[in-house]
Amino acid sequence: MTYLAPNSVQARDIAAIVHPQTNLLRHMEEGPLVIGAGDGCFVTDDSGKRYLDAAAGLWCASLGYASERLARVAYDQMRKLGYYHLYRGTTQEHAVDLAERLLSIAPVPMSKVLFQCSGSEANDTALKLVWYYHAAIGKPEKRKIIGRHMGYHGSTSASISASGKPDMHTDFGLPFPGFLHTEFPHYYRRHEAGESEEMFSTRMAEALEQLILREGPETCGAFIAEPVMGAGGGIVPPRTYWDKMQAVIRKYDMLFIVDEVICGFGRTGNMWGSQTYDLKPDMISSAKALSAGMQPISALLINQRVFDSMLDESRKLGNFAHGFTYAGHPVTTAVAMETLRIYDEMDMLGHVRRVGPYLQQAAASLADHPLVGDVRGVGLIAALEMVADKDTRAPFDPGLKLGATVDRLAREHGLIARFIGDRIAFSPPLIITEAEIDEVMTRLRHALDDAWKELRD
Ligand SMILES: Cc1ncc(COP(=O)(O)O)c(C=O)c1O
Repeated sequence: MTYLAPNSVQARDIAAIVHPQTNLLRHMEEGPLVIGAGDGCFVTDDSGKRYLDAAAGLWCASLGYASERLARVAYDQMRKLGYYHLYRGTTQEHAVDLAERLLSIAPVPMSKVLFQCSGSEANDTALKLVWYYHAAIGKPEKRKIIGRHMGYHGSTSASISASGKPDMHTDFGLPFPGFLHTEFPHYYRRHEAGESEEMFSTRMAEALEQLILREGPETCGAFIAEPVMGAGGGIVPPRTYWDKMQAVIRKYDMLFIVDEVICGFGRTGNMWGSQTYDLKPDMISSAKALSAGMQPISALLINQRVFDSMLDESRKLGNFAHGFTYAGHPVTTAVAMETLRIYDEMDMLGHVRRVGPYLQQAAASLADHPLVGDVRGVGLIAALEMVADKDTRAPFDPGLKLGATVDRLAREHGLIARFIGDRIAFSPPLIITEAEIDEVMTRLRHALDDAWKELRD
């Protein structure tokens, strides 16, 4: 297990990112924000106040907050077949159609699809399959999982162990043994003086290789990563990062799990983040925009190599013993199929490619604000980093809880974004318009101005 030395630069840096800005006690005192309705990119609270949700909820409400068409599909399906399972050689038509559809749009040749109800479960399944695969090919000791500091892959015991979020490990006794974490590629914050993006990426790949060599390549089973880090703060990979990282993963014959839970279905301007960054995964986990966030469904795509191991084990053990009651549920799969049809009909990719650059430009216009140190993004993901000193990139004192302050002020101005420490991430519904993007930035600028004033007062 890789523990961060408490005083290492990296530990302090991560602490500055994840310092607790919200806590249960505060929520208990203040009460929740009760959202009662939504339309397009807006949600309305129980007092009637409207918010422009530039986070698409949790990166998932890709088609906005209400859909007559998806409601009709769910309703019709519940009247026809409201439940069936995928156990013991059984299936139902939408699960079959959806699996075929996903395989037809996969970024690399994939063989099979396994359904679950959340991104966490998709990644959990992928992690179990890493262990199963290596046992099947006679290398049961090759089971360590390498993720990245600040990576996020879900909240189940295994998927959070693969994640690199110290705040989600502390006092849960996690990560489990056998889960390791390598550097995260946050060029802006972590590059050294004079270090180009390419040089930084080389250093990231070398750090991964050193970790593998330290642990023993024969024990390292898989690498798991998001194409763009979402919950880590909207961190876009620096130039050449993925080429160099993938070379190391291949060199040590590790499986590569690409977590497309946020990036899948258009978010980066291609159907998959794997296409944007030329990734060659063995397994792909997807969720969120798969059903426009309107039904809890996830899908894990696996390649032939992994599926062969399932067949081999089935020959040996007589069974593939893994599954979930609601996996491939008729309502969730019917809604997901319809969501993919809607994406085609509206030319969702064309739309993201048009408005994505507009979002990037609009976000970049905030770089002149005294609080903003870095602006970055790709497609319909954008992120801003607030810093105390633009020249030295020094972060604010975590005790100031600046992110929480700007979050509160943004809500006052009717804007919802995702605050991760002092980082502000945007992942608006994929249907957002240019006018709405302008509105997001206007509201955020007001919130930043107010925060700047509060800081000086
Ligand atoms: C990249 C990534 N993977 C996995 C998950 C977990 O998905 P879920 O919350 O559906 O379990 C998330 C959630 O935000 C995510 O961002």
